[in-house]
Amino acid sequence: MTTNPAKKPTADDKFSFGLWTVGWEARDQFGDATRPHLDPIESARTLAELGAYGVTFHDDDLVPFGASAAERDRIVADFTAMLKETGLVVPMITTNTFSHPIFKDGAFTSNDRQVRRYGLRKVLRNVDLAAELGAQTFVMWGGREGAEYDGAKDVNAALDRYAEGVDTVAAYIKEKGYGLRIAIEPKPNEPRGDIFLPTVGHALAFIARLDHGDIVGVNPETGHEQMAGLNYTTGIAQALWQGKLFHIDLNGQRSIKYDQDLVFGHGDLLSAFFTVDLIENGFPNGGPRYDGPRHFDYKPSRTEGIDGVWESAAANMSTYLLLKERAAAYRADPEVTAAWEASGILDLAQPTLGEGETLADLLADESAFEQVDADALGERHYAFVKLNQLAVEHALGAR
Ligand code: GCO
Ligand code: MN
Ligand code: MN
Repeated sequence: MTTNPAKKPTADDKFSFGLWTVGWEARDQFGDATRPHLDPIESARTLAELGAYGVTFHDDDLVPFGASAAERDRIVADFTAMLKETGLVVPMITTNTFSHPIFKDGAFTSNDRQVRRYGLRKVLRNVDLAAELGAQTFVMWGGREGAEYDGAKDVNAALDRYAEGVDTVAAYIKEKGYGLRIAIEPKPNEPRGDIFLPTVGHALAFIARLDHGDIVGVNPETGHEQMAGLNYTTGIAQALWQGKLFHIDLNGQRSIKYDQDLVFGHGDLLSAFFTVDLIENGFPNGGPRYDGPRHFDYKPSRTEGIDGVWESAAANMSTYLLLKERAAAYRADPEVTAAWEASGILDLAQPTLGEGETLADLLADESAFEQVDADALGERHYAFVKLNQLAVEHALGAR
């Protein structure tokens, strides 16, 4: 491993990786694997050497599907020993309810009740492992919960079953007293033609209907929102506003197409700049902050060898740290402060009604409506282009 990134992280940067990211053998729809199997414990060691503080995984990434109880115990013990030795933590774990053919029509929303019961048991078993390893977040990505054909699902019943599944897991977490929170990961499509809970907004609306929604939030992935043509930074901003940003999956995506899972920043770089700016510096007027792991869920491209796997892992962190530096400079620049003032960024924090002002007061206030010269007010300029150019120039390191 001979990577030489511009920025090398430390554990304080809170970078974590899914074992399935670097461990992807690069088998795709059209071609065979191009890389050998990597031992998950060895991969975790290398990630620690590169500066990651945490690793995450699906149950099956660590313990092969169908392994005996004894084999499982041995693998988990070896893994735990590695954690102790390297100082790595496991902030999040998740369940594979998509690879095995049993899940071809989903787990929680399969039309087959026996499959739904099996899926629930697999997830509940994994909750125990998450608690045992001290994870704080339990991600649920329902990649197979969906359909190819509108007539294939009773969507009303499917959402009932989805809610039943998530609530059952949440109730179990509470009953056991585990310090875990569930984070639902939205995705519009792939592997299913359409996936339920396709965007951050759908997931937030779904969570509001749950019995145990207090411990359920979201794990938005950069590329997944962008696959739906949406703005990732705005999506995580709303999740923050709702107190629901429990975890994040950072990566890169170039427009609306198949899930590319590129290195963070290798898709829309300016969007990545604003993502980092929000995570590191918060909203311009203050407000809720994200302080969880900076988790990368990407795939080293199929063209890459093992060196490329580690180059790309390091690239995620290096790019993040470079953007963090640029975003700090952007925030510290007096020209940006002046541009914020000109653009009204800070005025937006002022409530529209005055303190103690009633609806009747507003209706009686002629200066708010009757006396307003709408044409004159319409003359106001917001100078957002100047502000954005400052962001571009800071992102490029020109200021
Ligand atoms: C994807 C997803 C998934 C989930 C992961 C967690 O790219 O569609 O990355 O990777 O994040 O499976 O369950
Ligand atoms: Mn993805
Ligand atoms: Mn993901």
